[in-house]
Formats: sequence, structure tokens, C-alpha cells
Amino acid sequence: MADKDGLKNADNFMIDVPQAQRDFHVKGCSDYRWGMKTRLSNIFNPISGNTLMLAFDHGYFLGPTSGLERLDITIPTLAPYIDVFMATRGGLNACIDPKLLSDKAIALRCTSGSSILNDDLSHEVVSVNIKEAVRMNADCMAVQVFIGSEGQKSSIDNISKTIDAGNELGIPTMGVVAVGKEMERTTKYFRLATRMIAEFGAQIVKCYYCDDFETVTASCPVPIVIAGGKKLPEAEALSMCYNSLQRGAAGVDMGRNIFQSDAPTAMVQAVRAIVHDKATDKEAFQMYQDIKNS
Ligand code: R5P
Repeated sequence: MADKDGLKNADNFMIDVPQAQRDFHVKGCSDYRWGMKTRLSNIFNPISGNTLMLAFDHGYFLGPTSGLERLDITIPTLAPYIDVFMATRGGLNACIDPKLLSDKAIALRCTSGSSILNDDLSHEVVSVNIKEAVRMNADCMAVQVFIGSEGQKSSIDNISKTIDAGNELGIPTMGVVAVGKEMERTTKYFRLATRMIAEFGAQIVKCYYCDDFETVTASCPVPIVIAGGKKLPEAEALSMCYNSLQRGAAGVDMGRNIFQSDAPTAMVQAVRAIVHDKATDKEAFQMYQDIKNS
């Protein structure tokens, strides 16, 4: 291992020089084979290059969550406007009609082990195996990674094994940067965590938005989708979404800021306008208000 003492600060991110893409629209993924690329294309729209994931996997550690009390009722109203369902196998299997997924992708949550009853959420295991991911027709497997926490080592083991299995069968892995009570939320932390996850071999990284976010996306060799996080006023959530795309994110994986909105179907359409149609945050907020009041 490199000596930690005397490490120079990384500060030359060359923000204005995009990473070279070779004949494929998903950053850092040109050299994968056909099956992997079809799944990545199901996730990232080849025209905009971006994705709108709806996260509704909260029940796996929070139980019934405000806005998600009934997956079978809420999700179908949002489905027409999203690209990817980020969910658990149980939620999908029991509540979501497969017909809703005819032109959608699945980001299947494949780790669990924590709950709101625990103090330390960082000890997870791989809870969905690769055969099940194939059976569920997953387009990627989502694995939470807890850098800097007690559970760091086992979460790295989880993601490494998932990536090995996914690469064998052509299924991408999305590494989810976890934040917890003992973990930082600084730009430096997010640069560390996203880069580590990409170097483990994840094809997609999910991370929170932060100051100087362009340095996080520039130094991460695969696409970053931003996590929505706690519910914000709609205008703020749309600005976060817009700013993250301006600073190099390849889409959003948003939950509460959509399904806990005063008008979830208006909100999801406004987010979609930013992600795929180059709308500004102001235009998207106007759209949100117009649809909400119509
Ligand atoms: C995080 O690992 C989980 O995927 C969450 O359950 C989900 O992504 C959170 O979404 P949001 O913060 O946008 O409600």
C-alpha cells in the first residue's frame, strides 16, 4: 500500500476535458460486451445519455415510508415518466405488474442487513444472488458501500462479489455511496468513495450532490447518478437536479423528493424535463406548478 504520509492533495481535475468515450454513450463502459451494453442502454437513454431512476426501495430498512405506504397504488401513477425502477425484489414481485416494465429498466437492490432499529446501519450482506437477479430481469444490481464506517470491509466484499458475478453474466452493478452518522458528507469524502467504488469495477455509482460536484464527477471514471435524499421544497430539489447535471451527473435516482411531493406526477415530469429535455430548474419548476394546478 502507498505510504499515507506526505500524500499530495488531488487538485488537477481537468474539468473542461471530458473523459474520452469510445463508441458508447455510457462513460467508461465502451469495452464491455454486448449483454452488459444492452442493459446499460436500457438504463441510460442513448439520446440524452441520462437516466431517471425512481428509488422506492426504502421499505427494506425503513418499513412503510411516507408516500410509499402502498407501492401497488403509488408506483403505477409515476411509472410512465421514469426510466428505471430502483426497488427490492419483494416490492417488485408482490406489487408491480410486469406489464408496467415493458420499456423500463430495473435497478435491483441486492444488499440489506440494516434497519432503523439499529444504531449502526453499515453491516449489510448480499441478500439477492445473481440467479435471482437474472430471474428478476435486473438491468443492474444496487449494492450499498460504507466507506469509512465499521462495515466498510464487508460492504467492499459485498460489492466485489456482486461485480464478479455480474460481469460473468453481463449485468452491471451500481455502487451506492452510503452516508451514516459516522460518515462524512464532504466533497473530499464523496470523491474518495465514488472513485473507490468505480475502481472496484462498478459500472454505475450513486452519490449525493455536494459543493464542487464537478470534481467528483470528473475524477470518477463511470457515470454518477445523484441520490435525492431527504424531502426538499420542490424548487430546491429541481435546482439540485439541474445543478448536478450541469456538473457532470448522468441522471438522478430520486425517491422522497418525488413520491413525497405535494404533486408527485407533476414533480416526476419536471425532473424528467431536466434529465432528458435540457430544461433549466426554473423552467422545470414552472412546469411543476402548471401541471399541479391544471
Ligand atoms: C439508499 O441506499 C437507498 O437506495 C434509499 O432507500 C433510496 O435510494 C433513498 O432515496 P431518496 O433519498 O431519494 O428518498
